Amino acid sequence: MDYEIKCTACGKTTTSLLDYKCLNCGNPLDIKVEKAFSKNGIRKKDYGAWRYIQFFPYINVKEVITLGEGWTPLVRVSESLYFKLENLNSTGSFKDRGSTALVSAIHKEVKRLGGFIAEDSSGNAGASIAAYAARAGLKAKIYVPEGVSGPKLSQIMFYGAEVVKVSGSRSRVAEKAQKPEKGKIYVGHIFHPIFRDGVRSLAYEIAEQLNWKSPERVYLPVSAGTLLLGVISGFKHMAESGVIANTPKIVACQTSQVSPLYHRFKGLPYHPPEKVTSIADALVSTNPPLLELMAKELAAIDGDAVMVEETEIVQAFHELARRGFFVEPSSAVAYAGYQKHLQSGETKLKEKTVVVLTGNGLKTSMKT
Ligand SMILES: Cc1ncc(COP(=O)(O)O)c(C=O)c1O
Ligand SMILES: [Zn+2]
Repeated sequence: MDYEIKCTACGKTTTSLLDYKCLNCGNPLDIKVEKAFSKNGIRKKDYGAWRYIQFFPYINVKEVITLGEGWTPLVRVSESLYFKLENLNSTGSFKDRGSTALVSAIHKEVKRLGGFIAEDSSGNAGASIAAYAARAGLKAKIYVPEGVSGPKLSQIMFYGAEVVKVSGSRSRVAEKAQKPEKGKIYVGHIFHPIFRDGVRSLAYEIAEQLNWKSPERVYLPVSAGTLLLGVISGFKHMAESGVIANTPKIVACQTSQVSPLYHRFKGLPYHPPEKVTSIADALVSTNPPLLELMAKELAAIDGDAVMVEETEIVQAFHELARRGFFVEPSSAVAYAGYQKHLQSGETKLKEKTVVVLTGNGLKTSMKT
């Protein structure tokens, strides 16, 4: 085997690509790819995330379900600042990297079992999974919080998925989605190791687009942690394989309302609000199942965390739009985090930095 799927807590391994958590203890699973990263293994003529398919050994090349995701532009906006335009993926967010990996890996088995896939999401992941399910000819049932934003909900429905609205907390949406039902195969992106693993391609692209010179810093928004963990895993893979000299300082950016990782990382107590009302409506995981894993991995690579206020998010959103980058408020959180670090002197203008712009501005219900 070129890879291993292993529990992050008890160490039990599994060979089933359908398992979304450890069947022994219920903790998250993780995929470890044994094969070293090498520039020679890249399919140079494939201008998408699957140019790195060699490093995803659980994917069969002939079974890839793609919508042309990845190889998104890395735009230099000043001397040492770059924006990675993940808003330009097919469904308008970075989630497509996770969905293409997940659906490519399992669609045959789901069809063989005569089942359908189920997912819970606050919007973007639901839209993305729905699109890839449509592309694969699979039925998808997407569980969403009652207050999900208009454009994202429409997107999920236009892709043909069945939508189930669930009232109450975000955890309640997940519970409902996981409830057994005939034919249901739960593939929730928050847990599923393959979804998270698919996000590795984002790190590979950043390094390749910078000619294999790793940036000094990467700022990204964090909620459930799939983006953060996927990006860390990709950079670690390249560093361990000797392709880049070191991993960048990865900075997890959170809102003051939803900041469990920031508080854990800084050793502070976190008291979530009763109801999340932040303009950053994609960042809603007040109690993410991957919190322990995120804190451990972020510390291991000497990363950092920053928390931003609502006014800072709105300001960052407008500033980005006025520079021509129309992204979701949730994505502006990363830019707000970067600005905050510049102001506090945590980082300097000359440090080579990538800010990941995760989602398309057309998805926002915010009015001018
Ligand atoms: C636009 C956008 N940015 C960032 C995130 C955060 O990603 P994660 O939940 O993997 O931490 C999300 C998640 O929904 C998102 O939709
Ligand atoms: Zn376990």
